[in-house]
Amino acid sequence: MRLPRGSLLVVASHNQGKVREIKALLGPHGIEPVSAGDLKLPEPEETGLTFIANAELKARAAADASGHPALADDSGLWVDALEGAPGIYSARWAGPAKDFRIAMARIEKELKEKGATDFSAKFVCALSIAMPHGEIKSFEGEVHGHLSFPPRGDRGFGYDPIFVPKGWDQTFAEIDPQTKNDMSHRAHAFTKLLHSGIFTESL
Ligand code: IMP
Repeated sequence: MRLPRGSLLVVASHNQGKVREIKALLGPHGIEPVSAGDLKLPEPEETGLTFIANAELKARAAADASGHPALADDSGLWVDALEGAPGIYSARWAGPAKDFRIAMARIEKELKEKGATDFSAKFVCALSIAMPHGEIKSFEGEVHGHLSFPPRGDRGFGYDPIFVPKGWDQTFAEIDPQTKNDMSHRAHAFTKLLHSGIFTESL
């Protein structure tokens, strides 16, 4: 699988926060990103039971529907004391209004109800890249840290205001976006994708 500079790549996400971060990661590689939202592609139902299964399902649907290579991200927050919840259901915990204040409050409440003292958590990201009706490859990255309440910061998206990466005092929503981009679960998965040699100067 090879994507030479100038290739068009569909970013198979309707989440503006993710699309922004993925576009920033792709920028230096001469790839022309276009989002699934801009192409008005339908959003497939996430029926997979793992991050990789869901990323593959989204990349496959976007590549086949658009006729272009497609990159999908499935990611989420894994809270150790909640046995990995919200995990693959991270977006769904925010409800139809996608209100992450509700999702963050639910995590805090469930940790309190359990009497949890260990607030360890990680973000996980699976990236899948699919060719139309062809090959598919997947890569997974993680960033470890802990949760902190109440939520702090207004940058980033989703659960960023409660996630403090290891070695930092600030939450992902307080850290400047470029620094987050350099250390995030998405960046780690993206580094694996780059090392696979998919983005090359020529075919
Ligand atoms: P999905 O991959 O579209 O199912 O959604 C994953 C959800 O996980 C997002 O809607 C966010 O709530 C959360 N998430 C994934 N990556 C991040 C991140 O970098 N920061 C904060 N929340 C994230």
